[in-house]
Amino acid sequence: MRVILLTGKGGVGKTSLSIATALGAAEHGHRAIVLSTDPAHSLGDALGTPVGPRPISVCSGVFAQEVGALDELERSWSAIQHWLRGLLRGETDELVAEELLVFPGLEELMALRAVREVEARGEHDVCVVDCAPTGATLRMLRFPDALRIFMENFFEIERRGVRWLRPVVGRLGGSALLPDEEFFEAFERLYREIDDVRQILTDGDRTTARLVMNPARVVVEETRRSFAYLSLYGVATDAVIVNRELPPQASGGWFARWAEKERRERADIAASFPVPILHAPLHPTELLGVDALRRLGREVYGSRDPAAVFAEGRPIRLRKDSRGTILEIDLPNASKDDLDVGVHGSELLVRVRDAHRRIALPASLAGRTVSTARLEAGVLAIRFE
Ligand SMILES: Nc1ncnc2c1ncn2[C@@H]1O[C@H](COP(=O)(O)OP(=O)(O)O)[C@@H](O)[C@H]1O
Ligand SMILES: [Mg+2]
Repeated sequence: MRVILLTGKGGVGKTSLSIATALGAAEHGHRAIVLSTDPAHSLGDALGTPVGPRPISVCSGVFAQEVGALDELERSWSAIQHWLRGLLRGETDELVAEELLVFPGLEELMALRAVREVEARGEHDVCVVDCAPTGATLRMLRFPDALRIFMENFFEIERRGVRWLRPVVGRLGGSALLPDEEFFEAFERLYREIDDVRQILTDGDRTTARLVMNPARVVVEETRRSFAYLSLYGVATDAVIVNRELPPQASGGWFARWAEKERRERADIAASFPVPILHAPLHPTELLGVDALRRLGREVYGSRDPAAVFAEGRPIRLRKDSRGTILEIDLPNASKDDLDVGVHGSELLVRVRDAHRRIALPASLAGRTVSTARLEAGVLAIRFE
């Protein structure tokens, strides 16, 4: 199943364009569903018909669904959290502890489990995800790393001494909320499900992100950062959609200076993103209902199939040359000053501004030292000895 994630700042047009993308995909013969994981659901408002946690038919070939409230597993998470806090206190890696305990983005990740369910139902070829605003999406991508690292440590501990672990759990765990067995099962299930979600998100053959933006400076800057972060976390971006551009007929007179500013932004946008840039004009009214949103889809995609992958390429890849192995990460718009690279055991640590990533190295690279790390033309190339 093809998965298309639409993300961007609040209000830029994610919801409208998600529906437009699904409608366009259906016109190309795909069985499409648009799924909202933004806690501020608005599919129903845009469609002018209530949408809930069960998929509803919007028109021929298109379904819509808003991911529902927290379920049992999420509630049990507070017990897990409580237990972790005790277990991690003091001895474990600060960064991991912090990421696991603060759980930024966990909610979004929980919501994205719905993508698995849609896939399992097997009724749709294309799932367009109307994501939460960029920040939450990016934080969400960080979580599986932290959880994986924790699980490895956790099983390490369990191998070393179940007896030691269990009493700790008994004392610190949310045993008031959950008996031990249930607690462990919940934890393992969560881990597996989140790992499934991670695999879907980072599989560039079926999942790509489309960044929605408006042609205004502050939004362009943020979109550049998002592009780099998505790459860092292994999610391929295959298009940038610039929404609400002043149309030619509104670009003179009173709007002349806005139009001129937009022209400069557009040139900047074209130079900033190594993927197709799609455009949609500002409409005189809100875009409500299937017909208006279908027209929006045609404006954005023209005759293209919205379900196609518009830019091939893996944001993280391995390459070999005569001197050894190189791990490459696409980080367009990152600068040397923003970057830190290091190896820790079998992991590569990369920091871009305030985003940290721990990339599990393939066995062939684990334990090897980095000989050089260079940032050139938006690609971070890390050479191993
Ligand atoms: N190209 C456009 N022209 C005019 N109005 C638009 C356009 N794109 C979106 N809108 C309107 O802007 C508002 C916010 O759009 P929405 O898709 O809900 O953004 P987001 O999901 O990013 O918050 C909605 O009222 C929508 O109808
Ligand atoms: Mg929205």
